[in-house]
Amino acid sequence: MVGSRDWQRCSQVVIVLRHQDINMDQLKRLIQKMGELTGKPEEGKLHINPIHPEVNSCLGNDEALLSSEHNRDKYDDYLNTKQKQFASRGWHADTSYENIPSDYIGMKMVKAPMTGGDTLFASCYGAYDRLSEPWQKMADSLSSTHHEPDIMPLADKGLNLWLGPRGHLQNVGGRFEATHPLVITNPVTGWKALWGFSPISMRAKGRINVLKLITDNHDLQYRHRWKPDDIVIWDK
Ligand SMILES: [Fe+2]
Repeated sequence: MVGSRDWQRCSQVVIVLRHQDINMDQLKRLIQKMGELTGKPEEGKLHINPIHPEVNSCLGNDEALLSSEHNRDKYDDYLNTKQKQFASRGWHADTSYENIPSDYIGMKMVKAPMTGGDTLFASCYGAYDRLSEPWQKMADSLSSTHHEPDIMPLADKGLNLWLGPRGHLQNVGGRFEATHPLVITNPVTGWKALWGFSPISMRAKGRINVLKLITDNHDLQYRHRWKPDDIVIWDK
């Protein structure tokens, strides 16, 4: 059962819009505008994924299109869909390896699979709320280092990577590593969030097992079952 406060917070982290007849350019403008209205750095633009420009050139357009077929055929199974592994490996905070991460992320479903392909979201606000006050105080004082080690090896396999700038002049190069406060504050609501759940890319100083907070608290999660023309928007 989800408590009313938790539910309020869960409902604030993911926006689902069904049957949206808007194109990719309109979606991009919406996400950029949301960032501008909520304190995005003036020089900040939409993030450019270091891998997906390759997909763009394959398609001959400028749309950021993710495809599981492309993942298998062109990226040497970058998403590791063929290996046996724990599903919890997939938890991550988007672009946390950048010095200036994205503030909002939007995705539109073009073609949905008959079964599977769901996306799980977790409330970083709810995770912070689950900590006792002393643990919250400790978390407030910590930083965490986020590193995405799987990107650069793709260059050795012949893929062209975009090494920047990726949405901001501080997001350049091939290190894909950045240090951030473990607790971030939403500039609009003032809510605090325990940010970043990736088991492969995040190292928090201290002993908070961030990922376990999510795997142990299913009521902090939202599962989205995609339909064509769904748009889902979430904050970082
Ligand atoms: Fe993501």
